Amino acid sequence: MANLKEDLEIEKASEILNQGGVVGLPTETVYGLAARIDFPSAIEKIFITKERPFFDPLIVHVSSVEQAKTVTSQWSQVAEVLASVFWPGPLTMILPKSRQINSMITSGLDSVGIRMPRHSLALELIKKVNMPLAAPSANKFGRTSPTNADHVRAEFQKENVFVLEGGDCEVGIESTVLLIRQREDKALISILRKGQILRVDIENALSGANLPFEYVEQVDKKESPGHMKHHYMPPVPFIVCLEPSKNVKDVLKEVDSKMALLPKEIENVRILKPEGLLKAPQILKLNSDPVLATREFYAQLRVLSNKGPDCILFYREPYHQGERWEALFDRMNKAASLVL
Ligand code: TXA
Ligand code: MG
Repeated sequence: MANLKEDLEIEKASEILNQGGVVGLPTETVYGLAARIDFPSAIEKIFITKERPFFDPLIVHVSSVEQAKTVTSQWSQVAEVLASVFWPGPLTMILPKSRQINSMITSGLDSVGIRMPRHSLALELIKKVNMPLAAPSANKFGRTSPTNADHVRAEFQKENVFVLEGGDCEVGIESTVLLIRQREDKALISILRKGQILRVDIENALSGANLPFEYVEQVDKKESPGHMKHHYMPPVPFIVCLEPSKNVKDVLKEVDSKMALLPKEIENVRILKPEGLLKAPQILKLNSDPVLATREFYAQLRVLSNKGPDCILFYREPYHQGERWEALFDRMNKAASLVL
């Protein structure tokens, strides 16, 4: 049960949603920018507030499996098992959409992304409005995702977005996105975005339940429109160096010589470039445990950017290898202006 202050905040958030507005929503992964799925003008507001292109579909957040079944036309056994193992939690399942789902949410696709977040306030708010909430991460398109309420307030200061205060996010990066295509004899599954829930976890859950499936690596771009080369970028150039023994001065020199080769924009995402020669870097240091490093990554990008450097530099060490680091380095490589 939430305390009085939380009750009042949930009351306020639900009123805004019921009047067709958008609110900042805490989840265990990152904060979302939420709207009711049945108000097209509110859904449009999400895209406009985020400056997100309409071709990139939104995730629908539910508070129960019953509710999930109302937004898909095919709740398969695979969906049932994965929901029972991983929900509430950081797994988004892409399933055939039901007619109830507005095509603006799915960017015209026949499928819909569904997840039940593991955050008590998110679940309470969805229950209170009694309607699933569409919510992308609460950052301007292409920029670093928010992992606390202040990040969201700062991101949408101009738009004056109300944010439900839910503390720091426990996971720190976005959910694993899993495409599930049911065939007659088996399910075809593909990870469209890596996250804390790993391929091996999903395969173990399905094998444990004796469900036939095949993992498909390559997915047509049409089925994964939100997959871009760059994303999550901080306001100053972020550089990942794969040679930990190289000194900072030499890295900056190499960056200076290579920056000119970068285009200004790739797939609608502006590529950050330094103005002149680099001389005031901030070095990003992360915890040596992958769970803790992932939790602090986006927040640290913001902390270091606020110190006014001309770039942020991260050294990738040999121990940053293996499945438990993969999702973090997926985000890091996308946030980087340059990896060298
Ligand atoms: O952890 C999360 O997933 C967070 C929190 C707020 O729940 N949300 C989030 O949403 O990261 P967003 O919009 O930033 O990322 C959703 C991703 C995008 O890459 C989008 O393209 C993909 O999921 N997606 C959504 N619906 C899809 C669909 N029907 N087919 C393929 N990809 C889809
Ligand atoms: Mg996002």
